[in-house]
Amino acid sequence: MSLRAWMEHWQQRVDTALDRWLPDPKTNPATLHEAMRYSVFNGGKRVRPVLVYAAGQAMGVDEAVLDSPACAVELTHAYSLVHDDLPAMDNDDLRRGQPTCHKAFGDAMAILAGDALQTLAFYALSHGLPDSVPSSHRLEIIDLLAVASGSRGMAGGQAMDLAAVGKELSVAELEDMHIHKTGALIRASVKMGALCSQDHDDNRIGKLDHYAKCIGLAFQIQDDILDVTADTQTLGKTQGADLARDKPTYPALLGLEGARELATELTNDALNTLKGFDERAEPLRALGRYIIERTH
Ligand code: IPE
Ligand code: IPE
Ligand code: MG
Ligand code: MG
Ligand code: MG
Repeated sequence: MSLRAWMEHWQQRVDTALDRWLPDPKTNPATLHEAMRYSVFNGGKRVRPVLVYAAGQAMGVDEAVLDSPACAVELTHAYSLVHDDLPAMDNDDLRRGQPTCHKAFGDAMAILAGDALQTLAFYALSHGLPDSVPSSHRLEIIDLLAVASGSRGMAGGQAMDLAAVGKELSVAELEDMHIHKTGALIRASVKMGALCSQDHDDNRIGKLDHYAKCIGLAFQIQDDILDVTADTQTLGKTQGADLARDKPTYPALLGLEGARELATELTNDALNTLKGFDERAEPLRALGRYIIERTH
């Protein structure tokens, strides 16, 4: 199967599962439920859930077992985007080709939609992980998402991002910021998928974690590159937003070529780590390449 076919399959699978977790838009408070659905079903690439499924598959896990962590990480990601776009943060009008949540529903509703998406993510884990996942792993999965999205993960990275506006960071500082704001959730996606397996093979899980650390950083480097090189229509978000807001980025620090070289190096490192894995890791390998070749 091609990566495209795997991605479509897993995108459809997670969308069906997300539809089950999200409250009906007619249920009170209807506007909040509409805002939540608006922010989830708006054409995201679903890279993080796809990574959950691909990592689980590499460890021999059944797809149905992976639905709840796949949903949890996408709900967390959707919440992070709603808040990232708010006027107090990046102040963006366009997301996934449509008006951002706060443009469509107002700032207050967007804040609440983000809050509710975040807690729904944990509900999807606490209620959705099947008994086939050992209970110690279930707790570890919940713990992983909590740390990866909190002040020592994504939210912390977002704080570093805001503090860095208008400043010149060193390469090490920029790496630290990217590893937190984007890398942490990508790394958690892979590890959550792997931890759904019955046996806890520390060596293989460690290798998957190293793969995820590399592609997580490469993902944000490519996001920074696309902000410079892509157009608004393809991106589905405003092109040049980083430059306009004076954000420190990899292209700003290393130049476009330097940023591309680093992303390629990280991908090669990630792919080397998967050398001992069999053909079930093929989607993970293809995803590593896709992350730096993608055009939006
Ligand atoms: C964009 O993430 C925000 C970052 C963390 C870089 P994606 O590029 O995965 O956005 P969607 O989900 O496909 O819209
Ligand atoms: C987003 O980084 C990281 C998040 C945690 C949401 P960006 O601010 O670069 O993401 P985009 O470019 O708006 O999608
Ligand atoms: Mg941002
Ligand atoms: Mg942004
Ligand atoms: Mg960006």
